[in-house]
Amino acid sequence: MKKIYKAHILYTKEKSRFEVLENGYVAVDAAGRVAGVSVHLAALDSKDAEVIDLGDRLLIPAMNDLHVHAPQYRNQGIAMDLELLPWLQNYTFPEEMKYADTGYAERMYRRFVHDLWRFGTMRSCVFATIHTESTRLLMRLFQEAGMGALVGKVGMNRDCPEGLMESVEKMVQGYETLIAEFNKPDALVRPIITPRFIPSCTPEMLRACGELAAKYQLPVQSHLSENKDEVELVKTLEPESTCYGDAYDRYGLFGQTPTVMAHCVYTEGEELELIKRRGVMVAHCPASNLNVSTAIAPIRQFFEEGLRVGLGSDVSGGHNLNIFRVMVYAIQASKLHYQRNHDRHFLTLSEAFWMATKSAGSFFGKVGSFEPGYEFDALVIDDSDLNHDHYSLLERLERYIYLGDDRQIEKRFCRGKELGEPK
Ligand code: GUN
Ligand code: FE
Repeated sequence: MKKIYKAHILYTKEKSRFEVLENGYVAVDAAGRVAGVSVHLAALDSKDAEVIDLGDRLLIPAMNDLHVHAPQYRNQGIAMDLELLPWLQNYTFPEEMKYADTGYAERMYRRFVHDLWRFGTMRSCVFATIHTESTRLLMRLFQEAGMGALVGKVGMNRDCPEGLMESVEKMVQGYETLIAEFNKPDALVRPIITPRFIPSCTPEMLRACGELAAKYQLPVQSHLSENKDEVELVKTLEPESTCYGDAYDRYGLFGQTPTVMAHCVYTEGEELELIKRRGVMVAHCPASNLNVSTAIAPIRQFFEEGLRVGLGSDVSGGHNLNIFRVMVYAIQASKLHYQRNHDRHFLTLSEAFWMATKSAGSFFGKVGSFEPGYEFDALVIDDSDLNHDHYSLLERLERYIYLGDDRQIEKRFCRGKELGEPK
């Protein structure tokens, strides 16, 4: 049945500004898609519709996390004293090895999915581990919660601890199992091909990943040009490649199917052109860049070049799962970066919001906006405890983004369905 929600509606059709509808209405059809949005009820087809008045609440698109590691959730907020490569070897790989144990995986993954729900992230692009059974478990937990996720069993067979490597054959077998169970058209939870990054994968592993993506027309995710030492290492591992991105491209892992690459801190010149040509999406992970990278990705420049950019938490390189916090890091980091160089303007609130909603959402389909035809992924925010004075609706949203947390999120919707707290 069609539903019409009345509230103060804020969203971004374009990155340069917010759409603000004071006491507006959004109509949602039986399939969970937006049928119309207006300040006038009469402008919407309200025949047979249930009208739900949300009063003085804010109604905004739900958050999307374009890059996050589920098995690193226990490490969130610890081990932040090293740069990327030693951080992986000393803290991250040992934690991920524990996911051979499905009991451990279930306990941790339940917490992880619960907390994504808590912070209003309804879609995410997730790295699991090499372990097929634990990855299946994570996918089932997302399904039970009703949340959208692209989940990757991780391909790794080089320069990692013994317990965190898998042969190419086993990797392919594991994927085939997950694909048979989860690769259904229109499913909210689907597999995504996930070679960890060039240093963890031999050419044979990369080739097999590219072949799987092509055979099943599955999307691809990985890491790109995140840290200086990593970029140098890749030059020695793939000397034939003209740039880091080209090393993926050679194996069919760079836009041959929809592709998202995390970080791109050191992307320039040829790599930037290749990203643009292939329509590869960038997952900007500012909290993680501040913690384990060696610089921040130049997002304003990416915008000028017309690249597609969304936001990622990158837990546990990033220490915070809450994408509203990640928006703030994106803005603050861009201020340090561009103010110092006096060359470009820092990121604005609407740009950060757009990256977390409509732009990141585009990787999952028509997600992240309230324009007609978009899937209704939404959050109802009761900011009365933050709203002690007369603020405009935009100021209320800005205060929520900077000061709010899960306590103000009253309802969460994914594809039109209200989602209760996962068990
Ligand atoms: N590069 C390869 N693996 C990882 C990871 O787990 N986190 C981050 N931030 N970068 C990586
Ligand atoms: Fe990452």
